[in-house]
Amino acid sequence: MQFHTPFTQRYDVPIPIIQAPMAGGITTPKLVGTVSKLGALGSIGGGYLPPRQLKKVIRKSRRRARKKPFQVNLFIPEYPQVSLERMQHVHHILHPFREELGLSEGDLPTEFAPNFEEQMEVVLKEKVPFFSFTFGALHPEWVHLLHEAGTVITGTATTVKEAKCLSELGVDMICLQGKEAGGHRATFLNRPEDGLLPLEELLASTLGNVEQPLIAAGGIMNGTDVLYYLRQGACAAQMGTAFLTTTESGAKYKRNLLTEKQTTLTRAFSGRLGRALVNAFTRWGEEHPFEIIDYPIQNALTQTIRKAAGKQYRSEFLSMWAGEKVEACRDITARELLESILQDIYDLVKEP
Ligand SMILES: Cc1cc2nc3c(=O)[nH]c(=O)nc-3n(C[C@H](O)[C@H](O)[C@H](O)COP(=O)(O)O)c2cc1C
Repeated sequence: MQFHTPFTQRYDVPIPIIQAPMAGGITTPKLVGTVSKLGALGSIGGGYLPPRQLKKVIRKSRRRARKKPFQVNLFIPEYPQVSLERMQHVHHILHPFREELGLSEGDLPTEFAPNFEEQMEVVLKEKVPFFSFTFGALHPEWVHLLHEAGTVITGTATTVKEAKCLSELGVDMICLQGKEAGGHRATFLNRPEDGLLPLEELLASTLGNVEQPLIAAGGIMNGTDVLYYLRQGACAAQMGTAFLTTTESGAKYKRNLLTEKQTTLTRAFSGRLGRALVNAFTRWGEEHPFEIIDYPIQNALTQTIRKAAGKQYRSEFLSMWAGEKVEACRDITARELLESILQDIYDLVKEP
């Protein structure tokens, strides 16, 4: 089957599907490589990876992709100013979680996120074919350098205003993240609650306002959904939640994804709004809305808890990022998922 969208026509990616970047060990080289090798675009969620590890993951993914293009995604850094007392207070009120997991109170973290400039140096040196970013706008100098290296750049928007800002920056494509999406909200110019448009509405209101091709993300789970958004004017569909339960994904909470249905928007895990499965931690967030500190500080404060919860498989304390359509998740391989999407589309387009 042949697709003709600005995405498939401009780039060496015949299938207009992007396996979403998903930071936190989910987008393994095996997942990224398999997706790219099959003709869609695999993406590395590199946001939390220190530069040396990022380089390793890029090289492993590139090897598995067998010369097909792949993408790297990073987080635009944020630097909230927070007093030591406030951090100590939140560190302390999180202690009951540590106790449940047999952890001591420990010291406050001193590092909050990997060094962004060093991550970007790796991306540049490795000459990655596609680069995307979220949580903000990339500095124009990086846009220039990436373009010089031949990298295709995508920025992420949740409002028309953000899409226009990214458009003026000169990115090549804009990924629109509808409110249905799993994981962190990309919102950076507006208040988080203003960045919660359903994907259909966001796409319709952005089309015609920017010249760049638009990628649709949020709640896309099968071929019917992919075809729908392509027909609405998107150049490609970015899918996260559907890939979470594939065999190749590194998600620690596949069992929950396959059995639970209820998602919520929460700042409890990281300080940034995101969509996750409901659990004890998201309920704690609802009870302590004013205690939570902005990203990335809250993220660093909850890190030891989430790590231990992963090891002990205590899903009540894990950040189980997932989109609204989680009930459509299936226990299959990435190849089976892509083949079933293509089959759906084939059946739909051949219908009289
Ligand atoms: C577990 C998880 C982690 C995510 N991590 C990232 C990330 O690191 N960078 C990014 O740009 N988007 C990230 N996202 C958001 C996706 O790019 C995309 O917007 C979303 O998955 C689309 O909605 P869907 O999950 O309903 O398919 C993540 C999503 C999930 C589910």
